[in-house]
Amino acid sequence: MNKKLRAAVMAGNWKMNKTASEAAALYDELIPAVKDAGCTVVTCVPFTDIAVAVEKCRGTNIKVGAQNVHFEKSGAFTGEISADMLVEAGVEYVIIGHSERRQYFGETDETVNKRTIAALNAGLKAIVCVGELLEERELGITKEVIGRQVKIDLFGISAEQMKNVIIAYEPVWAIGTGKTATAAQAEEVCGYIREVVAGLYGSAVADGLTIQYGGSMKPANADELLAMENIDGGLIGGAALKAGDFSALVESASR
Ligand code: PGA
Repeated sequence: MNKKLRAAVMAGNWKMNKTASEAAALYDELIPAVKDAGCTVVTCVPFTDIAVAVEKCRGTNIKVGAQNVHFEKSGAFTGEISADMLVEAGVEYVIIGHSERRQYFGETDETVNKRTIAALNAGLKAIVCVGELLEERELGITKEVIGRQVKIDLFGISAEQMKNVIIAYEPVWAIGTGKTATAAQAEEVCGYIREVVAGLYGSAVADGLTIQYGGSMKPANADELLAMENIDGGLIGGAALKAGDFSALVESASR
């Protein structure tokens, strides 16, 4: 019903792939392939690819994103990158709380919340990731898990700031496994996320919120997922590393 009010956003998450020269080569294929996109196109690249990504994407319709950001402005945080550093480098989007960060790097909903606030305060758009583990789905507690994540991750964020938030629903069991959630499973949770956001901010904010699905999205399953009322785009890992696949997904979202 309100799907048309929302921006469709297709974001590639390159993860720890592509050196700067490999990134440049991928952009050379990608830029012409997505130039007529009818949706927002974002590529979230490793920190070391940001400079080449910003240079290549200047004057194109591709936006550059990062894959993480620290919550402090500066200081003794060896190995971390601040929101101001990203902004000055030309980055517009940042993925926060990806399940791989939660699983392998000790990310919690509390740190996801702090990072999201720091990103928004610096003027970045935040792609906040939530998703349940297989055990949680099997226990029948998917909605409890997702509701908790959404409420903590967005704690203290104003309705105005929500204009710069995208929520990506990525069931952990579907990431990089080839197992996609069915369109009905994905829609059920994305619809629930919108309900939780409506409870926190009211229906105007919820209706305007872009919610992505992520987890083995590929050209063969994208049309069905993107046709769902509450799925407004995708966060795409493996298929974002191939210009042909990524541009086919962008085309699906443009229809
Ligand atoms: P995948 O990754 O498309 O390779 O499953 C999605 C993601 O982790 O964002």
